[in-house]
Amino acid sequence: MYNKGTIIPGLIIFVLFVTFPIWFNGFKAGTPPKPELPPGGEKKCVESVEYMRANHMQLLDEWRDNVLRDGNRSVVTVEGKDYRKGLQMACMQCHSNKEKFCDSCHTYAAVNPYCWDCHLSPKEAASKEETR
Ligand code: HEC
Ligand code: HEC
Ligand code: HEC
Repeated sequence: MYNKGTIIPGLIIFVLFVTFPIWFNGFKAGTPPKPELPPGGEKKCVESVEYMRANHMQLLDEWRDNVLRDGNRSVVTVEGKDYRKGLQMACMQCHSNKEKFCDSCHTYAAVNPYCWDCHLSPKEAASKEETR
């Protein structure tokens, strides 16, 4: 003989108990970083956030080709302000804290773009200015 009234809740509790480590760790480890908004107070990116989140790497490649292959350092206008295409000349003008912006995601996603082997981060650029 069994009692439906206790077996079903019993099963539910058992399943929750057994799977607890999975979903508990899932929630903790799965919290993505919150990249810092531009400290300068800009409200919009060069494209929509969704687009940027998914495609900023391709956009940077495109821009590099525009500038280096086609000699076309055209201008992007965001909220009435002009930026010349480039890593330092556009992206980092707004996202001036590389550590709290680019790096926060990249560390989380375990990617390490090699761009900074050559391109200066805003911090490095500032310290160069000082020693000049
Ligand atoms: C081996 C050195 C080197 C590496 C590594 C490198 N770049 Fe560059 N990049 C350059 C040089 C040199 C220019 C030309 C600078 C100029 O004409 O203003 C340039 C220009 C660019 C430009 C257009 C102009 C500008 O000033 O930003 C973009 C965009 C760019 N690189 C993006 C990237 C990205 C993204 C990465 C990483 C995936 C990267 N680069 C890695 C050397 C490098
Ligand atoms: C005019 C200032 C400005 C420029 C230039 C700019 N951004 Fe942004 N970017 C922003 C703002 C503001 C946001 C957040 C927008 C929002 O939350 O609606 C953002 C969002 C993003 C995001 C998504 C962040 C998230 O929370 O998921 C990425 C990635 C990004 N930018 C990368 C770049 C790259 C790479 C460049 C250069 C190609 C660039 N941005 C140029 C202002 C700028
Ligand atoms: C919202 C999170 C987020 C932010 C903010 C962000 N990135 Fe990324 N970035 C990623 C992820 C995730 C990848 C790996 C994507 C992939 O492999 O498909 C990546 C990859 C890249 C790559 C290609 C690297 C490679 O080895 O393939 C470049 C270049 C890059 N990011 C530049 C930047 C720059 C410059 C900034 C700051 C202006 C920035 N990203 C900000 C999430 C972010």
